[in-house]
Amino acid sequence: MLYSAIRKILFKLDPEISHELTIKSLKKTGATPLNLAYKQDVVGKPVQVMGIHFPNACGLAAGLDKNGECIRAFEAMGFGFIEVGTVTPRPQPGNEKPRIFRLTQANAIINRMGFNNKGVDYLVEQVRKAKYRGVLGINIGKNKDTPDTKAKDDYLYCMRKVYNFASYITVNISSPNTPGLRSLQYGEALNELLSSLKAEQLSLAEQYDKYVPITVKIAPDLTAEEVDSIAQCLIANDIDGVIATNTTLSREGVEGLEHGDEQGGLSGEPVKEKSTVVIKLLANALEGKLPIIGVGGIASAKDAQEKIDAGASLVQVYSGFIYKGPELIKEVVSAI
Ligand SMILES: Cc1cc2nc3c(=O)[nH]c(=O)nc-3n(C[C@H](O)[C@H](O)[C@H](O)COP(=O)(O)O)c2cc1C
Repeated sequence: MLYSAIRKILFKLDPEISHELTIKSLKKTGATPLNLAYKQDVVGKPVQVMGIHFPNACGLAAGLDKNGECIRAFEAMGFGFIEVGTVTPRPQPGNEKPRIFRLTQANAIINRMGFNNKGVDYLVEQVRKAKYRGVLGINIGKNKDTPDTKAKDDYLYCMRKVYNFASYITVNISSPNTPGLRSLQYGEALNELLSSLKAEQLSLAEQYDKYVPITVKIAPDLTAEEVDSIAQCLIANDIDGVIATNTTLSREGVEGLEHGDEQGGLSGEPVKEKSTVVIKLLANALEGKLPIIGVGGIASAKDAQEKIDAGASLVQVYSGFIYKGPELIKEVVSAI
């Protein structure tokens, strides 16, 4: 069935209910012949980034499959890589509902989910069961009730748990929906976090006899100076890659629209330019020392190409995928 027909039904429902229904059906069908309903052949140009072989450069961004329950379904759709999470050490319910809103006129979403997830042990169990052989990113965060002073311990805890199951690990310090999280993007707090994670990565690499790259995911709401100082810190700590960007706190492009003033992170078309600007600034500052994964507002081949032109080596999609469905993967891959 065409995604446009499915979308008509899904968009009539409350966004979180349609999300849950979709996750449930993808979880059930992902590794069965029923996946023919969405399976597609995506022929893309393979790329080598962070020492990893990516069959194509279009990935699924974090937050759609928070618990790693639908990995095989997203594989069938043809994603070149899949990022699951954000996952936290302990399960947590997230913020009160409603907490996700469609802004259809702007091809956008506002969410304040708040890292609702079933905890890292559950996620690892799902990954194990999936027996997926493709590229898997696992995105880690901190529990809401962990004090900011102990944030590092949550990341280290998750890193140890997921290390042996991930192709790369993403350190999410840019969700706007966990109070205090974004402050980890600055100055000594960032340096301290990254140096601890780097030391742990090297020790785990020895223990498992394999090196799993670390990427750091940053916000679009940063000044040029802030982007530059993050870039220097990533280089200094020998981090393997950077994901730009998460959702924005800005409401440019959605003022006056229904749900436009809901609290949370805005994604989709309104974040596109902001994220491209951050990618350009990063590319300038990093001088090719580490690769950039571009995400934010990609809903066409042209959007993806813009991210690559700005300096990204790989791209990810979320909101555009909700609006356009699996067809978007083919379109993006054909362009890059
Ligand atoms: C409903 C929703 C939940 C999200 N949850 C997460 C998350 O748990 N962790 C994360 O790193 N990013 C999360 N994101 C951000 C996306 O991964 C992506 O960075 C952002 O939405 C920009 O891309 P897009 O415009 O293609 O959606 C979420 C986005 C949405 C819309």
